[in-house]
Amino acid sequence: MNHKQALKHPIFKIISQSAEALNIDSYVIGGFVRDYLLQRGNAKDIDIVAVGSGISLAKQVAKNLPSQPAVQVFKTYGTAMLRYNDIEIEFVGARKESYSEHSRNPIVENGTLKDDQNRRDFTINALALSLKKENYGELLDPFNGLNDLDKGIIQTPLNPDITYSDDPLRMMRAIRFATQLNFKIEENSLKAIAKNKDRIKIITKERIVVELNKILESETPSIGFLLLEKTGLLQYILPELVALKGIDEVEGQRHKDNFYHTLEVVDNISKTTDNLWLRWAALLHDIGKAPTKKFHKKIGWTFHAHEFVGAKMVYRLFKRLKMPLNDKMKFVQKMVMMSSRPIVLASDVTDSAVRRLVFDAGDHVDDLMTLCEADITTKNPRKFKKYHNNFKKVRDKIVEVEERDHVRNFQPPISGEEIMAAFNLKPSREIGIIKEAIKEAILEGDIPNEHNAAYDLMLKEGKKLGLKEMI
Ligand code: CTP
Repeated sequence: MNHKQALKHPIFKIISQSAEALNIDSYVIGGFVRDYLLQRGNAKDIDIVAVGSGISLAKQVAKNLPSQPAVQVFKTYGTAMLRYNDIEIEFVGARKESYSEHSRNPIVENGTLKDDQNRRDFTINALALSLKKENYGELLDPFNGLNDLDKGIIQTPLNPDITYSDDPLRMMRAIRFATQLNFKIEENSLKAIAKNKDRIKIITKERIVVELNKILESETPSIGFLLLEKTGLLQYILPELVALKGIDEVEGQRHKDNFYHTLEVVDNISKTTDNLWLRWAALLHDIGKAPTKKFHKKIGWTFHAHEFVGAKMVYRLFKRLKMPLNDKMKFVQKMVMMSSRPIVLASDVTDSAVRRLVFDAGDHVDDLMTLCEADITTKNPRKFKKYHNNFKKVRDKIVEVEERDHVRNFQPPISGEEIMAAFNLKPSREIGIIKEAIKEAILEGDIPNEHNAAYDLMLKEGKKLGLKEMI
């Protein structure tokens, strides 16, 4: 079957003509072909293999494009890249790679298209479409990748032991593709991953996190985390999650398996939000439970202060994985820290407790509620309904309190300057005391969040502190 349809973008004709001018053969390969065949939408990255110099082909293509884009050359890898509108095109010369056991750097030789397909990670990524004039659009599929696409199988073109050991990142990629595409990893491949898992250590944390994020961004992230756990990779990447696995029993009392619970929460939240960081929060919301787990004769299993401990662990985990220690990390920490607050509230929804929740969570209060709703994993339909109804009440109350009291991103109705002017004060601790008393009174609902009421309270509090009002 011919796939000219895949190559209808004008760029392919230009690449084809440029290759012809240089008298070399060229092919589209990898993700573009895979995603076209899967009808996954138009990929923004195109990989081109030239049987000859990929760098020369890139330069020729750039010359033939009206925009004459710059060509970025990576000499060490023998690759070149250029941008055409919003498309990124990467060129590589077809090559043969051989690895020795002791070095990550392969010995690279020029090769045929088949050699190049051999060195690729998966059969579904080794599919190539010809850009040659005589068989333009023909699919070259030496490993029956089409069949694997059809059956939903991830397998390597070569012996999987070689493919994964050559480039251990491929272990993460296999699991990531299995998650994104809902494919199965072929049995020998899975065994080879488990066998080579320790080699993941030579891969940079940044590249591991790229794959982790893609797993988390998938429709059902648990597929990936279960595979990471099964192959032993999770122990290296996120041991905090592995530590949540298992159920202890003392005196007939058991707690739930917090690993599987966590994965359910992540899958739940992925149905309601695409926010990667909220998904991270779901993944990490219980990590404090492993180090805080205790059994008490009278009350059973407890995880005292696990939210606090968990939030601290988030920082160390982000740091270890070289993830950004910025507002995203702080957001995840905040979600973990506050993850039990709405649950406590749900049974007794008072105005003041909701005001405090909104005050503390600020703009993230909706995300927090989304996390708590995803946290409901009970299999008892009656309880499931009850918990959701309770949270619905909390959500309604949040809206009501918000409309009335405006405590989200709270701005004190009386400024420090006003307090200083009222009592003729220099900056001093009394100002802080008065401001805190006003804030507390508003959150408690003793006074409305308004200037006049706050001013009266300020006068009262000042008096208590022995301050004299300026007349
Ligand atoms: N590839 C490989 N081994 C790797 C990375 C990539 O063999 N560790 C090959 C595969 O043939 C892959 C192609 O290089 O299809 C392009 O890689 P990349 O752009 O990273 O991935 P895609 O397959 O295009 O998929 P995605 O865009 O979803 O990452």
